[in-house]
Amino acid sequence: MKNVLMLASEAVPFIKTGGLADVVGSLPKTIDKRYYDCRVMIPKYMCIPWEWRQKMEYVTHFYMDYLGQSRYVGVLKYEQDGVTYYFIDNESYFSGDRPYGDWYWDLEKFCFFCYAALSALPLLDWHPDLIHCHDWQTGLVPVLLHDKFAGGEFYRSIKSVITIHNLKFQGVWDVKTIQRFTQLSDYYFTADKLECKKDGNLLKGGIVYADAITTVSDTYAEEIKMPFYGEGLDGLLRAREHDLRGIVNGIDYDEWNPETDKFLVKNYNAKNFRKEKARNKKALQEEWGMDVDPGKMMIGIVSRLTDQKGLDLVECIMDELCQDDIQFVVLGTGDEKYENMFRHYDWKYHNKVSAQIYYSNAISHKMYAACDAYLMPSLFEPCGLSQLIALRYGTIPIVRETGGLRDTVEPFNEYEDKGTGFSFMNYNAHEMLSTIRYAEKIYYDRKRDWNKMVDRAMATDYSWRTSAMKYQELYDWLIGY
Ligand code: ADP
Ligand code: GLC
Repeated sequence: MKNVLMLASEAVPFIKTGGLADVVGSLPKTIDKRYYDCRVMIPKYMCIPWEWRQKMEYVTHFYMDYLGQSRYVGVLKYEQDGVTYYFIDNESYFSGDRPYGDWYWDLEKFCFFCYAALSALPLLDWHPDLIHCHDWQTGLVPVLLHDKFAGGEFYRSIKSVITIHNLKFQGVWDVKTIQRFTQLSDYYFTADKLECKKDGNLLKGGIVYADAITTVSDTYAEEIKMPFYGEGLDGLLRAREHDLRGIVNGIDYDEWNPETDKFLVKNYNAKNFRKEKARNKKALQEEWGMDVDPGKMMIGIVSRLTDQKGLDLVECIMDELCQDDIQFVVLGTGDEKYENMFRHYDWKYHNKVSAQIYYSNAISHKMYAACDAYLMPSLFEPCGLSQLIALRYGTIPIVRETGGLRDTVEPFNEYEDKGTGFSFMNYNAHEMLSTIRYAEKIYYDRKRDWNKMVDRAMATDYSWRTSAMKYQELYDWLIGY
């Protein structure tokens, strides 16, 4: 049996702000339990719903010296679907109504988390052979395994992997601050280690010291070796390219299944979607006061509303798009400028646009089922889960060819009867608009072709099966057979 500990800042069903939580929540369930004991550790945030917090069992607690004070570290656990989840408790660090907010505080919080997690391990009656870290919040762990924790017998053999879900966020502050929070010596603050453009950088530490690096699609693994996508770390990623690989994400096929989804007005499957899927659309049209017409093409977005998601392109063509025979629905929160932009178009074209500016898992399920097409014109996209969910719900993705979008959506080819979506290459609003209009044409004028595309979309397999095997191969390679 090989023991693997996933260390992350969020995991479904406990706490989620983005796709990272979906991955950490669903990948461990799929790792083959006959050969691997894969456990997960996240902070015990006060904002984890009470429903989950009340189920956690106390394991142990201890006091740890951190930043000159003795700090409480509690460990709790909860088991679900054969996976053990550990929670690191400290009420002063993990309070608040969201996991993140203030950068400076977050840096200290997650450095504490890394120290607490490693210090807790010997008390768990369980020895991980490998720690699988996710994103900048856990970037300090591979460094600590080479430094503060390198001496002891317990830690010596532990391997580390770091998965980059989004290179945009690196955990950066001036060297003095990062040095204080990490409690590392001057040795680590040079340009080949944790220093990056004169600042301290936690993700960089993880990338330099982890035994292997992964990211969440093949294309993104290539892109980040180039300056445009590399966010200042492209040189380092080129230097470590032999230890870097892309493994595309999957989605939880139990949670995302139009046939059994309890949030839908009408369940459907690959056989009956022609008749049944549109009943979900009609329900949303009624609920949100749009023109009720199940034959109208509905385009949707469910997303964090940030620059990453290509929303400036949408803003640029929204008036033109609204002249077409379509409806447009959006569910999301994020930058105020985008929230207000969508509110404005909802007001201006009330019968065809609906802006739902909040977070709701239930509504997201309804939208994936209701829409005919799903728009995702991202500036960059390490993997993207929304387009995978859309495919499973027979909702045709319209995407920009970048990162995981390029790897998971096959462009429609009308001559060869191929493809599962529509795509465009350049970050250009009118290139996007003409792609949407091409999709409209197929939807209205060539329904048979459209439905055949839905057949193909629903037949794709983006469950975790294949990708979990790739992680297992990587674990085997690092731990040894
Ligand atoms: P990212 O992690 O960059 O935000 P992904 O596509 O990987 O993008 O994952 C986003 C996940 O968050 C998807 O499961 C999507 O459905 C969900 N999501 C985003 N915004 C909302 C929202 N407002 N309400 C419900 N779910 C949302
Ligand atoms: C990040 C990326 C997204 C990816 C997710 C899970 O949030 O922005 O593309 O799907 O992580 O890996």
